[in-house]
Amino acid sequence: MKMVAHILIVLLSIISTLVYAYDPSPLQDICVADLNSEVLVNGFICKAVEEVTANDFFLSGFDKPSNTMNKVGFNVTNALVNQIPGLNTLGISLVLLDFAPYGENPPHTHPRATEILTVLEGKLYVGFVLSNQNNNTLISKVLNKGDVFVFPIGLIHFQANIGHTPAVAISALSSQNPGVITIANSVFGSKPPISDDILAKAFQVDKKVIDYLQAQFWMVAHILVVVLFSITSSLVYAYDPSPLQDICVADLNSKVLVNGFICKAVEEVTANDFFLSGFDKPSNTMNKVGFNVTNALVNQIPGLNTLGVSLVRLDFAPYGENPPHTHPRATEILTVLEGKLYVGFVLSNQNNNTLISKVLNKGDVFVFPIGLIHFQANIGHTPAVAVAALSSQNPGVITIANSVFGSKPPISDDILAKAFQVDKKVIDYLQAQFWMMKMVAHILVVVLFSITSSLVYAYDPSPLQDICVADLNSKVLVNGFICKAVEEVTANDFFLSGFDKPSNTMNKVGFNVTNALVNQIPGLNTLGISLVRLDFAPYGENPPHTHPRATEILTVLEGKLYVGFVLSNQNNNTLISKVLNKGDVFVFPIGLIHFQANIGHTPAVAISALSSQNPGVITIANSVFGSKPPISDDILAKAFQVDKKVIDYLQAQFWVNA
Ligand SMILES: *[C@@H]1O[C@H](CO)[C@@H](O)[C@H](O)[C@H]1NC(C)=O
Ligand SMILES: *[C@@H]1O[C@H](CO)[C@@H](O)[C@H](O)[C@H]1NC(C)=O
Repeated sequence: MKMVAHILIVLLSIISTLVYAYDPSPLQDICVADLNSEVLVNGFICKAVEEVTANDFFLSGFDKPSNTMNKVGFNVTNALVNQIPGLNTLGISLVLLDFAPYGENPPHTHPRATEILTVLEGKLYVGFVLSNQNNNTLISKVLNKGDVFVFPIGLIHFQANIGHTPAVAISALSSQNPGVITIANSVFGSKPPISDDILAKAFQVDKKVIDYLQAQFWMVAHILVVVLFSITSSLVYAYDPSPLQDICVADLNSKVLVNGFICKAVEEVTANDFFLSGFDKPSNTMNKVGFNVTNALVNQIPGLNTLGVSLVRLDFAPYGENPPHTHPRATEILTVLEGKLYVGFVLSNQNNNTLISKVLNKGDVFVFPIGLIHFQANIGHTPAVAVAALSSQNPGVITIANSVFGSKPPISDDILAKAFQVDKKVIDYLQAQFWMMKMVAHILVVVLFSITSSLVYAYDPSPLQDICVADLNSKVLVNGFICKAVEEVTANDFFLSGFDKPSNTMNKVGFNVTNALVNQIPGLNTLGISLVRLDFAPYGENPPHTHPRATEILTVLEGKLYVGFVLSNQNNNTLISKVLNKGDVFVFPIGLIHFQANIGHTPAVAISALSSQNPGVITIANSVFGSKPPISDDILAKAFQVDKKVIDYLQAQFWVNA
């Protein structure tokens, strides 16, 4: 069989250059797949938000072995969009791989996903083959328990159990529906078969060899097809959908829910679909925060659908403010038309929650990067006006105060007390503000979620070559990292060991993270995926936070976790939460505030995959109350509708990023 293997490797090179279609980016908080709908779209139709439950983001039994009694001694358990409808539009998924002793996952490729694998049990020999351009170099390695390895998007790869005991691995894939192309099946087992003339020439062998191979694969193919095609269902790439036609004017009256909106017939489109008037008229700022928004989003200008941009007009009363908030799906660029604004945004934990702030005057322009918490306050005694452009047709707004203290149902005060390092009474007081001050919340919701309509995302860049292993020592700053020369690349660039070792959770929150991001695995550069191991002490917690650049999919390895995420203002800050046990899987959509808490009296362990090489973390408490320098207590007092003393007390706490 050595010859056959050799032939396969030689021929695989044929398959090397795939063209990628990336998954669309989300155009709303969530778009849970309606798996029963007859309407065919790219991905799936969305279920109505009111019908969504935590179970749409959940799967159990991921600790149960599948049956590997087949010819290849290998089987897959899927956690793709078909199993977890909440994954729709989020660009990530998970599979559990079971290998019998000496079983193998034969050479295959995922057209739409990079794969990142963690060995839970046993010893695997794994590898991938670079494309023709890189002389079909094989990059391979033996992996043991706790080892992590990356298989770049589109490249042919395999995994084989080289031990005499079963092996188990979990792989995350950067698509809701990664697809699988098993080489042997595709080349020698297609139906109808590829002509043996063509294959004989391609493989430079006698037709008899081809006929022999084809005969083999007709027998084996069925098993492989059953085993492997099941994977085919759903990888994720989270990019904004590119327009696939000149225009797709939103049909705002259609009852069909899709990612974004159904298009109107081109014949019915008029100039008014691209038009809005009255953007010179101030809106009413007679409310508690002295602020209001006029929208020019896809709801107001249907022609914006699929085009990834929108506009808002911001009116500030004297000393009015747009309280701390974040746009899960857009970068914002603001121009001051009148007055004087104090504005700022807070960098993520990775950058020590540094506050970047500035006073802006008429004609000044300022940028607020996607996903980061920011605010604007009028510091003059006359009204101020600004126009902001947002990089999505439906940017979304998450107002921090509303989302954290005013969610429905409320986030447990135990969890918030630990997160904010204060007594539960302070939390109860803050939560009471938001329940009593429904009117304020209402204003904020009306004001802000109107923005929610339509942002465009900047996601990780797509790979433009087989691999671009990060040169972590280069002084040249680019988006991501400079690539190492292909000749200098080794399997270790795609590898990390020790992912089976717990980290130290002896800290205030009883929680710690082990990273497998681009800094730990340079081979992840440009591939849009990464992994973290989460360790929880008994009753430890990962406090409310958000990832500006990634959806997260979590698997519980040990223990019992209470987890949840909060929808944005547009969806009334609804809390979606659930208790997870060993083997359970749960999804946290990109940009939304979420948490995990160990509710057991033993340690808990989970592995999470994230749909970015560098997802970023913004811990809410740290970012809002612990930024350096601090956000003015005037601004926070107004935002949280409490006395400045409460803010000063919160700011005085000692903030540590887990
Ligand atoms: C894979 O495992 C499942 C669950 O154990 C089993 O139902 C299925 O038949 C197996 N498939 C193959 C091809 O062995
Ligand atoms: C591939 O092979 C060609 C011809 O032998 C050589 O010139 C080139 O440097 C090789 N490329 C790599 C990336 O090894």
